[in-house]
Amino acid sequence: MTENIQKNLWGGRFQGAADPQFAEFNRSFGFDRRLFEADIRASLAHCDSLAGAGVLGPDEAQQLRAALEKVLASGEASPNYFDEIPAEDVHSFVEARLVEMVGDLGRKLHTGRSRNDQVATDVRLWLRDQIDLSDSILRNTEAALLDLAEANSNVVIPGYTHLQRAQPVLFAHWCLAYFEMLERDRERLKDVRKRVNVLPLGSAALAGTSYLIDRAAVARALGFDSAARNSLDAVSDRDFCVEFASAASLVMMHLSRLAEDIILYATNEFGFFELSDAVATGSSLMPQKKNPDSMELVRGKAGRVFGHLTGLLATMKGLPLAYNKDMQEDKEAVFDTVDTLRNCLNVTATVLRNLRVNKAQAEAAASRGYLNATELADYLARKGVPFRQAHEIVGRVVMKAIDQQRELNELSLEELRSFSPLVEDDVFAALSLEATLATKSQVGGTAPERVAEALTAARRRLAPD
Ligand code: ARG
Repeated sequence: MTENIQKNLWGGRFQGAADPQFAEFNRSFGFDRRLFEADIRASLAHCDSLAGAGVLGPDEAQQLRAALEKVLASGEASPNYFDEIPAEDVHSFVEARLVEMVGDLGRKLHTGRSRNDQVATDVRLWLRDQIDLSDSILRNTEAALLDLAEANSNVVIPGYTHLQRAQPVLFAHWCLAYFEMLERDRERLKDVRKRVNVLPLGSAALAGTSYLIDRAAVARALGFDSAARNSLDAVSDRDFCVEFASAASLVMMHLSRLAEDIILYATNEFGFFELSDAVATGSSLMPQKKNPDSMELVRGKAGRVFGHLTGLLATMKGLPLAYNKDMQEDKEAVFDTVDTLRNCLNVTATVLRNLRVNKAQAEAAASRGYLNATELADYLARKGVPFRQAHEIVGRVVMKAIDQQRELNELSLEELRSFSPLVEDDVFAALSLEATLATKSQVGGTAPERVAEALTAARRRLAPD
């Protein structure tokens, strides 16, 4: 029983041992070992600040530093290293390893520090690295969109509203729409990073510390922009986790919409895309099937990340200041969000890099179904007919065309003139697919020159800062 108490970090106040089931329930080491490297980094900085405050002598600090480096090296060398001690969490694990190596000196490192400011510091350090990584992963997916756009620069697809054929657009324009979403996502993550990059250490359990540690120096040493201004807030704040999950949710929402478009366009009914065998699956029963599982999983996993966001919000909403153990629940949500995001971005990039675009099929779809009806209304409007009236006239033309199962440009000049005498033989050029695209020539439109410019600009935006 005494042995069990000694293994905890709070032996003195306790006479009884923890219930084994509770001890297991209380443990976070199964997952928070991912913070191991960050925990050592933060401990090294804390060690230096204790030396600066005169709490540790120069030799002691040197010894502790060497021991921390050794623990790090051992952890990196062998996964078994973590399972040899049944630690409660990563912080108690590192301390136990230090004590093993340097005895009481290892117990000195926790001076002026609590696991409350320690864990908040670790998560921030870890998440900052992950956000930096996610920037390059996002760029890779964006580059895949641009490559796909360039490889299919003359492909036209039907654009939809209400999932009804609306107006033709360049396929590259569609790619660039998703590029814009991911660009906003990158910006958002950079913005979240600012609020992640604040140092809690030095806040101790909740009230701050009485030791003369130089918090600004610790912040600098760990690459933080500043030290948190309020100790109560610093140990109880998980806004940065919520913000990250929120930014990640938006990425996932975008990937999910992209996935949905791809799934839809890869059906026989649409037939614009074919997924590579590398990212599709077959059916165990139906021999003809080629299923877009990759994209379905991305769409599905969006729900999972949204779940982490709402889970974090729900965990935090009722917590009194300052630290509460509820907050240990933040880690699995953040870790899984990071992993899911990375996997989904990577799989999406692979899908895009191997997507076959069926130009003929897409163009046929863009050429049938009255996607040029707006063109005819604009044609009449340019000849002086008020647009509302032009719209009405073209509506009647479309009715007749539907009735006869013909396209607008399959009607004769005389037939068209019977609706408006302003129609002349230049109408057929105006109704062509080329003209329909070319006239959308304002900034942001789908005219080929605008899209080519947008592609070049997108490439520039993707270049590393
Ligand atoms: N494993 C804990 C967590 O993740 C570390 C902080 C523990 N602090 C405490 N006062 N029990 O939140």
